[in-house]
Amino acid sequence: MPSISVKELLFWKKIQLSKGGDHQSLILLLDAVGGISSSDLNLSRINSGNNLYLRKNLDYLESIWKDHLLNSTPIQYLCGKTFWRDLKLIVTNKVLIPRPETELIVDIVFNIFEKNSQKLFFAELGTGSGAISIALALAYPLSYGIATDIDQDALEIASKNYKSSSKQSNLNFYCGNWWSPLESFKGKLDLAISNPPYIPKDTYEKLPKEVKNFEPKIALLGGQDGLKHIREIIQKAPLFLKEKGWLILENHFDQGPKVKELLFKNKFTSIEIVNDLSGIGRFTIGRYK
Ligand SMILES: C[S@@+](CC[C@H](N)C(=O)[O-])C[C@H]1O[C@@H](n2cnc3c(N)ncnc32)[C@H](O)[C@@H]1O
Repeated sequence: MPSISVKELLFWKKIQLSKGGDHQSLILLLDAVGGISSSDLNLSRINSGNNLYLRKNLDYLESIWKDHLLNSTPIQYLCGKTFWRDLKLIVTNKVLIPRPETELIVDIVFNIFEKNSQKLFFAELGTGSGAISIALALAYPLSYGIATDIDQDALEIASKNYKSSSKQSNLNFYCGNWWSPLESFKGKLDLAISNPPYIPKDTYEKLPKEVKNFEPKIALLGGQDGLKHIREIIQKAPLFLKEKGWLILENHFDQGPKVKELLFKNKFTSIEIVNDLSGIGRFTIGRYK
């Protein structure tokens, strides 16, 4: 294992950042590939005489950083990992990189359902890396959750992430189109969550290349107006939710009012648009009757 002094590593970090990129991405590279977490680094700063041990040498880390900067390859895919809430998740180009703004979905659930004691029955439609479902299964150990996706490769990653994050067995993974894997659970769900593909076609064509060239199209594109999947999810939700069951959706920055209207037309009540931390109406929630 290559050994390096704290001073050398801090100098190396400074050089890499001077070439471009952001601090958070470099921290991920050092942690996921180099094997040095930011807390290791902070501790070593205090005991600055101590050496650090890298899993890979600095030349190798530098070559990844170069690929990230030159080709706009998301650092998460190059490292095969991402941080999301308190989870460290495997990500490949088969799954969307879970976004920081989506972390708030879990807090919305915490606001609705008291933690720990709840024997929730929840489903997440379009789980991708599994981030949301895993966070909920861990926070509600007495719950039972089903995480679905149309992509079997994504489900395999989600299932690996669940196994490495939890010793529990309260989450299961099913493959299929939106509600179809849940046929045998009609009228039983306390909660359904989805962050579906919601980018309108025209916007999708203009996405930055680090998104469009690398992340799965199936995870992003929501048809002509972006609402194709949201419509399907809302229309069928009443069949699967319990009376008073909740539906929580993530949507594009300007879709809140339209999603609200769709929920209203499908007999939802307590409908609310919830802002993300930047004040954008990122989530729309409602209760079935
Ligand atoms: C925006 S990504 C969200 C992934 C993850 N839940 C997150 O928040 O990071 C949408 C997910 O929906 C899945 N998906 C797309 N079309 C679907 C369909 N018709 N039925 C089920 N899942 C679908 C994609 O494979 C992708 O994993």
